[in-house]
Amino acid sequence: MNSEFVLIVGGAGYIGAHTCFELLVSGYNIVVLDNLSNSQKESLKRLSTLTGKEIDFYEVDIRDSRSVDLVFEKYGFSSVVHFAGLKSVGESNSFPLKYYDNNVSGSISLLKVMDKYNVKKLVFSSSATVYGTPKELPIPETAPTSTINPYGQSKLLVEKILVDVAKADPDWKIANLRYFNPAGAHFSGLIGEDPKDIPNNIMPYISQVAVGKLEKLSVFGGDYDTVDGTGVRDYIHVTDLAKGHLAALNYLNSSQECGFSSFNLGTGKGVSVLELINAFEKASGKNIPFNIVARRQGDVAACYADPTKANKVLGWKAELDIDRICQDAWRWQVNNPTGY
Ligand SMILES: NC(=O)c1ccc[n+]([C@@H]2O[C@H](COP(=O)([O-])OP(=O)(O)OC[C@H]3O[C@@H](n4cnc5c(N)ncnc54)[C@H](O)[C@@H]3O)[C@@H](O)[C@H]2O)c1
Repeated sequence: MNSEFVLIVGGAGYIGAHTCFELLVSGYNIVVLDNLSNSQKESLKRLSTLTGKEIDFYEVDIRDSRSVDLVFEKYGFSSVVHFAGLKSVGESNSFPLKYYDNNVSGSISLLKVMDKYNVKKLVFSSSATVYGTPKELPIPETAPTSTINPYGQSKLLVEKILVDVAKADPDWKIANLRYFNPAGAHFSGLIGEDPKDIPNNIMPYISQVAVGKLEKLSVFGGDYDTVDGTGVRDYIHVTDLAKGHLAALNYLNSSQECGFSSFNLGTGKGVSVLELINAFEKASGKNIPFNIVARRQGDVAACYADPTKANKVLGWKAELDIDRICQDAWRWQVNNPTGY
């Protein structure tokens, strides 16, 4: 039994696959567990092509604790990176129970098995959505949290559960990573974001407009108090994000400090929707038709991270800018017009 295995839950998905790449090239042994509800095994095949390493994979739902238990019994995991979650805000408004069951009950189920096997190092995928409407910009980790939709609530609830778990048992070491806006793809063009239906996120949407799969982009709101009236977000390259997980895992392995800690993973720089469209047009050489339409309920004018804590404590910093995000997203789109 190798005690150095890291379990990557939800590792076949977008951010998970990029993180698997960074962990593999850094010498970690990984096992991937995923129910493939929003991903395909092909991402893992391509990871093997990229890294030359075979990946042990289990098609299992985290709520199926018997099957998860069997995977824990087989390997001596040192830690878990937990990506498994549903992520569409709109869908969560229509199907709240589906979101609470998958994201909250699923996490509780996973935590129980971890506890049973004494695996107490965890990196968790949270989201900047837990900050709600920010009172200050850039947003530090100490900012108040509040959410307005079931997706955000499910992330905040899991955060609260993790705080309590770490408080009750000081052996737990938990890095709670609050992502800003993940975008882009692996530089190889082999792994990237592969939405099943019409994309929820702006970058895959723009990519599909650029190739003519979708007609035009709707820009929600042109009258915000921002540089050009459109919403401002902190787009972070998925490779930078993946490296943030590597840094978090290294930190949990080396630090004597225990307990629960939140880290913002963002660039600290806000980019407006019009700036994003410009950058994408430059990277792709394509024209992106768009319409400015009414604001979307629940959207905030601007949201960007104060990433100082991740830099100081984890030694991590985003390196790749919006041009590089667009170039890599475009390469992925062109090489994989129908996804994996
Ligand atoms: N992409 C974003 O914009 C973003 C932003 C903030 C936070 N997050 C969070 O990061 C995590 C990863 O996001 P992503 O963009 O890679 O999404 P994704 O859908 O590509 O990846 C999630 C993976 O988890 C799997 N999964 C879902 N429920 C599962 C279950 N019950 N059991 C086993 N596997 C399950 C899916 O099949 C998928 O492979 C999610 O928790 C998401 O909420 C994402």
